[in-house]
This record gives sequence, C-alpha cells and structure tokens, in this order.
Amino acid sequence: MSRYHIAVIAGDGVGPEVIAEGKKVLNALGSPVVTFTDFPWSSNFYRQTGRFIPEGGLDEVKGFDAIFFGAVGDPDIQDHVTLNNLILPIRRYFDQYACVRPAYLFHGVRSPLADRTGGDIDLTVIRENTEGEYADIGGRIYQHTGQEVAVQTAVFTRHGTERIIRYAFEEARRRKKKNKVTSITKSNAQGYSMVFWDEVFKEVAREYPDVRTESLLIDAASMDFVRRPQDFDVVVASNLFGDILTDLSAIIIGSMGLAPSANLNPERKAPSMFEPVHGSAFDLIGKGIVNPLATILAGAMMLDFLGEGAACERIYRAVADNLRETNLRTPDIGGSASTSQVGDDIARRVAG
Ligand code: IPM
Ligand code: MN
Repeated sequence: MSRYHIAVIAGDGVGPEVIAEGKKVLNALGSPVVTFTDFPWSSNFYRQTGRFIPEGGLDEVKGFDAIFFGAVGDPDIQDHVTLNNLILPIRRYFDQYACVRPAYLFHGVRSPLADRTGGDIDLTVIRENTEGEYADIGGRIYQHTGQEVAVQTAVFTRHGTERIIRYAFEEARRRKKKNKVTSITKSNAQGYSMVFWDEVFKEVAREYPDVRTESLLIDAASMDFVRRPQDFDVVVASNLFGDILTDLSAIIIGSMGLAPSANLNPERKAPSMFEPVHGSAFDLIGKGIVNPLATILAGAMMLDFLGEGAACERIYRAVADNLRETNLRTPDIGGSASTSQVGDDIARRVAG
C-alpha cells in the first residue's frame, strides 16, 4: 500500500482551520495512507524566532513527497515581508514553476455571473511561478526625499517562458476538454518581455498542432473571463497576470473558498506544494466559518500529482455531491454550516 509523507505548513490566520479539514479528508481515505509532519513556520514563529523558515528548514522539507500549505499573512507584519520570507522562497527553492489553478463551477453553486450554471465554467490557469514580475530584483534610492526612485524589474528568461508554455500545452492534452490554450500578455504596451512571450508562445504552439490557440491582452482577458468564461480551457500567463486572473477565476465560480492551487515541480526533483488560492482572511479567523473546500480540493490535486488519480476522484466526487445535494455549506456560498461540519461531511462521503 502506498504511503506518502506530507510536510504541512498551516501558517497564519485561517490556515490552521482549513488545513485541519484537509487532513481530516485525506485521513478518511484509508488508502493511500498519508502521514503528516507539521512545520510551525508562520508569522508567530517569526515573532518568536526572528525567522519564518529556520536555518536549513527547506532542506528538511526536501525529502517529503509534497507540501500541504494553509495561508500566510498577518495584520501586524507588512505583507511583502511575510510573503518574501515564506511562500515565495518555497516556490522558488523547489523550482515549483508551474502554478496550476483550476476553476470549475460546481452544480449547486451560484456564480455571481448571470446565467452561468454548473459545468459552464471549467478552465484552468497555468501561472508562471518563479520569475516574471515576482523576480526579487530592484531597489530604492533617495528614500523619503523628493528625488526618491523605486525600480522593480520583471525577468523573463527563455528557459522559464518556454517551459511554462509547454506545460500549458501538455495540460490541454491531458485535460481532454476544449483542447485549447489561451496565452495572456500585455504586448501592446510592454514591448520587450511580453512581445518575447508572444513569440515563444507561437514557437511552442507549432509543436502542438492538435491544440487550438488564442492570444489575448490581459485587459481584454479580464473582460472575457466575465463575458465568456465558457470559452476558456487552459490559460497561460506570467506570474503577476496569473495571480490577478486567478482571483477573478475564483470568484466567478462562486467563492475564493472553492479555488485550489498546485505549485508544481513537474520534473519531481523537489516536492510540490498544494494550497488554497485564498489567503489568511483576518476577518474570519477563529469564527469556524471559513470554507475548507479549496484546501480539500488542493489535497485532491496533491494525490493526483502523486499518482493517486482514483483517490483524487473520490474527493472531487464527494465535494461535487455535497454541493449538488446539500445545503451543508459555509456562509460564503449561502449556507450556515461550520468549517468542521463541512469537513466531516466530505470525510464521511470519502470514507463511504
Ligand atoms: C497567491 C497569493 C500570493 C501570490 C501572495 C500571498 C504572495 O496572492 O498565491 O495568489 O501573489 O502569489
Ligand atoms: Mn493571489
């Protein structure tokens, strides 16, 4: 029987609340056997030790099969400090360059878009996850003077651009849905990096004559996610554009609380990381009403990546059945159930 060792970083805010339900559901599977090792890395850990990740911490995690991540962000610590010291270093250190963010409108969930019902929206955003606008390069001079200058550089390498675009085409083949890849840039204004991206997209597309392609500018794509979401299948975008589009793709399927995310190292040279798209949600902490489904679905994606497609299916089916058949859901999607009641229901269905 397969046994997987998972490093768990529950993190800040509602992170521990959603991770508890994610573990509950994975434990309910029985097979495969998933064991968890908790790492306390978080803003509280930073307050106590002065670091988000202890010396040598990442190498300790390296031997695990995957990382299950909750959320990070704290009202008392500037976000760029938290994020640049915890989640972004993990994505880069383990070369988790493919961020996969599926958005599926489940039957029984109301989209804020008029006339969209279950199954109408079924797309996945492939976000470049290690470079682009998130490259930690830049500087500030003459701070707090009238001459102040801030520079932040976006980095697009051929290696990085080619591999994420190729991943998107492979994903389109794997999904067997609309067999289409939409590439997002802003090449009408950003004449170097984004024109380069468009060129690489055309080159790689030639290797996949069976897959249809489309290139959109980010502004028009944002409009089209609202106007014609049913036309999208795989969408590939740079780090920042993918970040922004995946809040949009999360809300059109009914809630941020339904959107899972996988940070993949497709070559499996290092562990991949699975998390909800949402953050630490200060306003919900401790109320027991945060939606655990995004994290539960991230757990399913983790199993799929580990080669346990059937177990992944069981979890997806349990979530779909819960949403189609019951009103046992958290307030963000119109229910009055608690986080743990939802987790219990999914765990029961998975075990059944
Ligand atoms: C996300 C988040 C992160 C990102 C933040 C927390 C750095 O918004 O995972 O989408 O921008 O990548
Ligand atoms: Mn985001």
